[in-house]
Amino acid sequence: MSFPLHRPRRLRRNQTIRSMVRETTLQVESLIAPLFVVPGEKVKREIGSMPGQYQLSVDTAVAKASQLCELGVKSVILFAIPESKDEVGSSAWNPKGIIPQAIKAMKRDLPELQVITDLCFCEYTSHGHCGVMKDGVLQNDETLGNLVRQALVHADAGADMIAPSGMLDGMVRSLRHGLDEGGFKDLPIMSYAAKFASAFYGPFREAVQSAPEYGDRKSYQMDPGNLEEAMREVALDIEEGADIIMVKPALSFLDVVREVKSRFNMPTAVYNVSGEYAMIKAAAQKGWIDEQRVMLEVLTSMKRAGADIIITYFAEAFADLRQKGLA
Ligand code: PBG
Repeated sequence: MSFPLHRPRRLRRNQTIRSMVRETTLQVESLIAPLFVVPGEKVKREIGSMPGQYQLSVDTAVAKASQLCELGVKSVILFAIPESKDEVGSSAWNPKGIIPQAIKAMKRDLPELQVITDLCFCEYTSHGHCGVMKDGVLQNDETLGNLVRQALVHADAGADMIAPSGMLDGMVRSLRHGLDEGGFKDLPIMSYAAKFASAFYGPFREAVQSAPEYGDRKSYQMDPGNLEEAMREVALDIEEGADIIMVKPALSFLDVVREVKSRFNMPTAVYNVSGEYAMIKAAAQKGWIDEQRVMLEVLTSMKRAGADIIITYFAEAFADLRQKGLA
């Protein structure tokens, strides 16, 4: 392979040939749009650090999901800002809670929509940690039972998939058992298998008011320096029955995504998180970068790294460009 026999520029001469040899393509079918659901009616409150993203009440969330469906984005993942919080996060398993209401409304009005729910307690606990706390420490096994209760409530309401995000040991195993016993053998689990303790979650925590009141999440979320530990986490979740495994955040962990895809060859998801979105929005607002091109480059990088599925706040923007033939 040497010059002048080989001239790689021959395949870059015009757009037609470049498109022909492109290795990575994005599809709207691979995208999942996150939605933040709040109590009330006709609420559409923009999140300060996430321009273009909103806290939505059930009615406006259904309208947003309907728009997404029309654009070809047929999957959403739901997060809640509940009416009340307590020490253990018990509103997370209230069958009349905000998420079950949203699931029912969406499944009723939009049968083709796939409704995925995030399973965790940080939005529901008064202290903002992801489960039951004792002496400042997250109690793993005590939290697992509550997680199953939350999952069964979502499943009963009609959720199409659940996505546990708390990084508890044994969470997938407990959920698989609980769902199977509850009659939901066919409900898939997308596990946040390698979730790192990241500063990129900042805007999300503003969106759902879930910043921990004390301490941090480092005793359950992973150290960003660890690749091999991520592989062990993923291996455990696959053994425990996860159908889809996720790496989160995405951008600063693309090496982890590649390694997960190469080693396990499982359906692999990434979460293009709030801070990654906010950085692009902020720089674009200042006129420092071209928002559309950066968005496309970033989403493509995730796909190229091995992600089959991308959870992204850019889902609507991408689908819109695609529909207009601009992406
Ligand atoms: C809940 C959860 C978080 C995110 C998704 N699920 C926050 C956290 O762990 O603090 C972050 C998503 C984002 O930043 O976009 N555990």
